[in-house]
Amino acid sequence: MGSYVPSRRLTNADLEKMVDTSDEWIVSRSGIKERRIAEDNEFGSDLASGAAEKAMRMAGVKPEDIELLIVGTVTPDYRLPSNACIIQKKLGMVNAAAMDIVAACAGFINGLAIANAFIRSGQYRRVLVIGVEKLSSITDYADRNTCVLFGDGAGAVVIEATEEERGILSTFMKSDGRHTELLWIPAGGAVKPFHKKNFEDHELFIKMNGSEIFKHAVKMMGEASLKALQSAGLSGDDVSLLIPHQANIRIIEATARRVGIPMERVFLNIERYGNTSAASVPIAMEEAYHAGRIKRDDVILMTAFGGGLTWGAVLLRW
Ligand code: ACO
Repeated sequence: MGSYVPSRRLTNADLEKMVDTSDEWIVSRSGIKERRIAEDNEFGSDLASGAAEKAMRMAGVKPEDIELLIVGTVTPDYRLPSNACIIQKKLGMVNAAAMDIVAACAGFINGLAIANAFIRSGQYRRVLVIGVEKLSSITDYADRNTCVLFGDGAGAVVIEATEEERGILSTFMKSDGRHTELLWIPAGGAVKPFHKKNFEDHELFIKMNGSEIFKHAVKMMGEASLKALQSAGLSGDDVSLLIPHQANIRIIEATARRVGIPMERVFLNIERYGNTSAASVPIAMEEAYHAGRIKRDDVILMTAFGGGLTWGAVLLRW
């Protein structure tokens, strides 16, 4: 596994100068203190390449060994082609099939579930899954409802076939397209193609109904976690570490309560990165590992929820 975040920090004190907000409000409502923001000439494919290089180094594989590259992102460098193809070119993964998954914050979890299915089917033996976002490119820094939450970053993992009794134990994926407008970008697609007016009306940025998203997130991350545990015949008591999508500390606390996991067994880094969407779980996973929170035979539960609505969970034995 590997992660990569830009070096530039955007603190709550910085945001206080940009919109009508306060450090106290942001910390008490979300748990976020700062986030990383990519440079103008630094894109999702750069962040992803940094994370993927670290992951491949740790796994001892070369770019040409990767057979399938799956990239969870809603902030690709271009609308066409996929960011997976851009990353494939940058890293020289000449033998891979490459594709993007558009599932917002659940993009990495969905990517892992897809990788698991392909490996179990026998079609591929080695898959690279990346979660990456340059959310700063679609964040409206005049909208205090959203701009305090989001940050940029990338995380990557190499998944291989094994005969050992370890690795991914179960996965769960679900969506509910009835609530598309709770979290979306109204313009820039085929319905409202890019136009100067859309830009002036701030329609090319993320719009979010925060309180509705909050309610769904708590319910769905809890449901996904319980379903993944049930499929593997395990319960919250068996989980060594919960690595949830880092969207909001209160969503995480409520999810952990629903699944029956005390906060001592939950990994948090939200205060330093905010919500990095598809990148948040793999960044947290790598930090948890290097902090000594993941050891051999540990049962790790990961769950995420995002726009779409989309949600899911992956349970694994390390
Ligand atoms: N600073 C100060 N006040 C603010 C700010 C801010 N940055 N943002 C909103 N407010 C105000 C609002 O204007 C509103 O004021 P009003 O009542 O006068 O209209 C009030 O604060 C809203 O307060 P609450 O409803 O109590 O806020 P809440 O407790 O719901 O917290 C938050 C808001 C943090 C956005 C929360 O709802 C949340 O985290 N929702 C989930 C967001 C999320 O996870 N989104 C990502 C999903 S994943 C993906 O796909 C990217």
